[in-house]
Amino acid sequence: MTEATQILAKKFGSTRLKTEMLVAPLSVEDFVVQPVPFVSPPKWHLAHSTWFFEEFILKNIEGYKIYNPEFNYLFNSYYNNVGQRIARDKRGTLTRPSVEEIMVYRRHVSESLLAAINNKKLSENDLSVLELGINHEQQHQELLLTDIKYILGSQPFDPIYGNFEEYSDEGDAVWIKLNEGVYEIGYEGSEFHFDNETNRHKSYLNDFEIRTSLVTNEEYLEFIKSGGYQDFNLWHDEGWTWLDENKITRPLYWKDNLREYYTLEGKKDIHLKAPVTHVNFFEASAYATWCGCRLPTEQEWETACEQFEWGRRWEWTASAYQPYPGYKKIEGAIGEYNGKFMVNQQVLRGGSIATAPGHSRTTYRNFFHSQYRWQYTGIRLAR
Ligand SMILES: [Fe+2]
Repeated sequence: MTEATQILAKKFGSTRLKTEMLVAPLSVEDFVVQPVPFVSPPKWHLAHSTWFFEEFILKNIEGYKIYNPEFNYLFNSYYNNVGQRIARDKRGTLTRPSVEEIMVYRRHVSESLLAAINNKKLSENDLSVLELGINHEQQHQELLLTDIKYILGSQPFDPIYGNFEEYSDEGDAVWIKLNEGVYEIGYEGSEFHFDNETNRHKSYLNDFEIRTSLVTNEEYLEFIKSGGYQDFNLWHDEGWTWLDENKITRPLYWKDNLREYYTLEGKKDIHLKAPVTHVNFFEASAYATWCGCRLPTEQEWETACEQFEWGRRWEWTASAYQPYPGYKKIEGAIGEYNGKFMVNQQVLRGGSIATAPGHSRTTYRNFFHSQYRWQYTGIRLAR
C-alpha cells in the first residue's frame, strides 16, 4: 500500500468516527425529526454518507454484496443516475430502519471498505472517489451540526447540545484596498478539490476595498433598530417578499427581546462583538446597502483573502453560482455532485466554525439559495 493510500485510509477512519462523535449527545428522538424540508434528520445523514461509499465504491468491487438493496431508495439524496428515491421532505417520516440498525450499517460499510483497501482491491479511480466520499462526509458533518441546531432550536425550551462555542470577538474593522487589474482565481494543483473550483482563470477587477473583519452583532443590531427590516428600499424584491411573507424582523435564532439567541450551548446573551450569524443573502445585501457598501464578488474575495482571516462564518458573496470558464461536468452520477446545482444559488466563501478542520480552502465555493440562513453564515463588506 502506498503512503498516500495509508493516509487516505486513516483519514477515512477518523472521519467516520468524528461523525459518530457529533451525534453522541443526541437522544434517540432527536435523530428522526425533520422540522422543515431543508433540514434532514441526523439518522438520514448517518445513513446517506455511508450509502455514498457503498454505492460509488464497494458496489463495484468483486464479491461485495449490497448490505440492503432497499437502502438505495431511502438514502440516495439526489442522484438521478442511481434511481428512484424518497422525497427530500419525507426523510423525517422514516422510523425504520432504526438508529441502531443504521449504526450497524455504518460499521459494516466502514469495515468492508477498510478491508478492500488493505486487500488492494481499490483502483486509482476508486481511491479518488474514496477521497471525494471523505470530503462528502465532512460536508455532511457540517450539515449535521446545523441541522441539529435547527432541530434543538425548534424545541420550546432551548435544550443544550453540548460544548460548542459559536461566538467570539471579531477584530477591529479595517479596510484594505486592492488596485484594479487582472487577477487569477480558481484551483490549480494536485491536492483534493471539487470540480467547481476549476479551471483557474483570469478576472478583471476594478479598484475595490474590502473589510478585514465581519459585521458584528452590535453593528447589525443598529440596522434592526434603525428600521432596516421595515425599509423596502434596502431590499431585493424577492427579499422583501420573503421578509413580508415570513414576518422576519431579526436573524434566525434571535429571541424577540433582541438580547438573547439560541446556541448549541443553549440560550445565551447576544455576544455583541461577535460576527452576526444566521442571516441570508437578502439580509446580508440589505445590511450592506443600508451602510453604503455592498457584498464582495467571489473574484474579489479570493483575490483579497490572503490579507484577512476567514473561516469563522460562510460569507455571502454577490456572485451567482456559475461554472468557471472551461468547467466540465464529470460523466455519470458523480457529475451530479456539483454541476447540476449551478442555477439560482449564491456563492459563499470562507468556512465556518462547523466546517471540518482543513476541509475548506481559499478556492472553495460553497453555495446556497438566497433565502436560507440555518448555516453559519455571516457578512463581509466591500465598497
Ligand atoms: Fe450528500
